Amino acid sequence: MPQDIERLVKASKEALSFSRPVYSGFRVGAAVIAHDGRLFTGCNLENASLTLSVCAERVALMKALSEGATGLRAIAITCASGKTCYPCGSCRQLLFEYAPEIKIVLPSRSSIKVLDLKELLPMPFIKK
Ligand code: THU
Repeated sequence: MPQDIERLVKASKEALSFSRPVYSGFRVGAAVIAHDGRLFTGCNLENASLTLSVCAERVALMKALSEGATGLRAIAITCASGKTCYPCGSCRQLLFEYAPEIKIVLPSRSSIKVLDLKELLPMPFIKK
């Protein structure tokens, strides 16, 4: 796991440079790791029709799922600001649907927090 975390953090930082924060100016990078060690990166991509903008972690998740990745173990989310960037509520719910056991890795300038998704989303919506 420590090695995975290092790879994930590095990949999420690299993804920052592909971000298109044309309206907010706020860059976010993400990287998710599957059970087989494959990594998928994402960045936030904004659009003039603002509601079409997508979060970095959502891009990484969709890339992983659409390439058949399973058993998603951890996702790192990095902000260019150097501050801890918690995933938004919608992305928490989305992650829960596909990877309820996933670890959330949050690097900042001074630390790396590793949390369980369940800590961030204790009462997810479940259709039942
Ligand atoms: N953003 C993310 O990429 N992930 C989040 O969890 C929260 C927000 C992006 C969306 C938007 O492009 C920018 O950050 C500022 O809101």
